[in-house]
Amino acid sequence: MKRVPILAPSLLACDPGHMAQQMQEAERGGARRWHLDIMDGHFVENLSYGPHVCRGLKKYTALPFDAHLMVARPANHAEAFWEAGAASITIHAETDGIDENCALLEKIRRAGCLSGISICPETPVDSLTDILPHCDIALLMSVCPGKGGQPFLPGSLVRLEQLRRLSDRVSPECELQIDGGITLENVGAVAAAGADVLVAGSSVFGADDIARCCRAFCGTLAKSRP
Ligand code: DX5
Ligand code: ZN
Repeated sequence: MKRVPILAPSLLACDPGHMAQQMQEAERGGARRWHLDIMDGHFVENLSYGPHVCRGLKKYTALPFDAHLMVARPANHAEAFWEAGAASITIHAETDGIDENCALLEKIRRAGCLSGISICPETPVDSLTDILPHCDIALLMSVCPGKGGQPFLPGSLVRLEQLRRLSDRVSPECELQIDGGITLENVGAVAAAGADVLVAGSSVFGADDIARCCRAFCGTLAKSRP
């Protein structure tokens, strides 16, 4: 739990006409990976984009892509993302039974990717006890999934601390991510509560100077675990 937490900008908040350029600015400011929000219009109401976007953007960056699958049937889509070059693939715990989810997570690992599980704000943290040993990543949603720009839900800090304790006990190598409503104002407290990867969309790509904003995030993260 001593590693320095990192910033993973969510590309959902990019200007679609200038994605590569905005990614390069974020990378210059210290971003360490890309968070790709995949929405299917079923698990969440919105649509976003598919694996071709992951494949297409790879040529503009050396940073890895985290695919966050907000889709009702992740088993139907995971393979397309490992084939498109995603480094990690995160599915939602709410989509299927625990046996099916564990089997898919192990399949993701066998394909050479990191496997991740995500939970919505209303899903109890301890429901992850049996699944965490099959995961390299646990992603706690701090907003309801489906769109960017929502405020951080206040109960999320306590849930993150719970998840940190649980994962330290049952799956100590698991990396904890938090996603939704992360800003320069709350990022220090969220990292101190145990997040290893901070996903931020609108606060990064909505900034006037993206590189400078990322540098400010990274400066706070570097000081968050003395
Ligand atoms: C929400 C997505 C988030 C979102 C974060 O469904 O999973 O990754 O893009 O955006 P902000 O940082 O604007 O809350
Ligand atoms: Zn996300």
